[in-house]
Amino acid sequence: QKSGYKHFMLKEIFEEPSCIVSVLTGRIKDGRVVLQELEPFEVSLKELQTLKVVACGTSSHAALVFKYFLENMSDVTVDVDVSSEFRYKKPHIKPGSIMVAISQSGETADTLESVRLAKKYGAKIISVTNVLGSTLTRESDIVLYLNAGPEISVAATKSYVAQLVMLYLLAIKIIQSKESTGKRDFVDKLLRLPEVFENSLKGAESIHAIAKKYKDFKHFMYIGRGYGYPTALEGALKLKEISYIHATAYPAGELKHGPIAMLGPDFPVFSIIPYDSLFQKMKSNVIECKSRNAKILAVTNDENYELKELADDLIYVNTSDEQLYPVLMTPAIQLFAYFVADELGLDPDKPRNLAKSVTVE
Ligand code: M6R
Repeated sequence: QKSGYKHFMLKEIFEEPSCIVSVLTGRIKDGRVVLQELEPFEVSLKELQTLKVVACGTSSHAALVFKYFLENMSDVTVDVDVSSEFRYKKPHIKPGSIMVAISQSGETADTLESVRLAKKYGAKIISVTNVLGSTLTRESDIVLYLNAGPEISVAATKSYVAQLVMLYLLAIKIIQSKESTGKRDFVDKLLRLPEVFENSLKGAESIHAIAKKYKDFKHFMYIGRGYGYPTALEGALKLKEISYIHATAYPAGELKHGPIAMLGPDFPVFSIIPYDSLFQKMKSNVIECKSRNAKILAVTNDENYELKELADDLIYVNTSDEQLYPVLMTPAIQLFAYFVADELGLDPDKPRNLAKSVTVE
């Protein structure tokens, strides 16, 4: 049931805080991540040097956040492939290596085939999924359940947030298998996440007002750097799948290599620009876009209001936890896409040509 919300998508976005609680419950003890499911892999995790990750769509954006996070925090190399590509490539899988397969539904055909291929070459599979008893769970060595509850809307929202939190836990678990006292400060941040996350939903009404202003544009460019880049990818995917507006996402540094040529007054730029180590770089990119007369919409936590002059519209998220920006800034891109689709009179729960589970390739 929609519990008073106009659409399941909106309801599911507002369920994100409780999903975060569900993922975290029982999984942190005395500054350590406890993932009992992983016990049989304890030894391999200790020696882990590389990890292969496969996923599709929104789940592949969660995979990218996982890569940025684990690589930044450790010496482990994380190799992410979209499942539909991995399954037709030379797999480069060594016996005993670990593959992480991420799939909300656990039924995505390309991800299942990637898992089967990796197993043929001797990989062990850790799956991250939301659906109990799904095909993926039956074919994996270890399953990390999201417990996010059923996601009815075709657009993945709460499951993405739950995936991100689970993948932070997995990354910390890997790090703590190597150095048992590692990253306690980050674990504390994770514990505070449900409370901090509430701030991310507070701006819904102002995002609605912004969506009304932008709904008639035919093109959008999403940009970000570092942790902001996967959020840009996810923002563009959400907008195109439910509003059918053309949206493309780039790491901001790539603009000059081609895409900036498209910008102009009819091509707004949605920038993910948290106040982090890359803020000044992002700011220069935004200035370049502005000088092409593109409208600038920015999601930020810039307390110095450096962007106030620059951006036409600002979505402010009150947070300072750099590694958690991908979670905390996600409701902004989801709500923007939702309100644009709704304002256009479209049903965001049932986008045309799309199915919730992609069981054929
Ligand atoms: O169930 P999965 O996570 O394997 O699904 C993968 C994609 O089909 C899925 O994330 C899709 O991109 C989303 N529904 C988009 O919102």
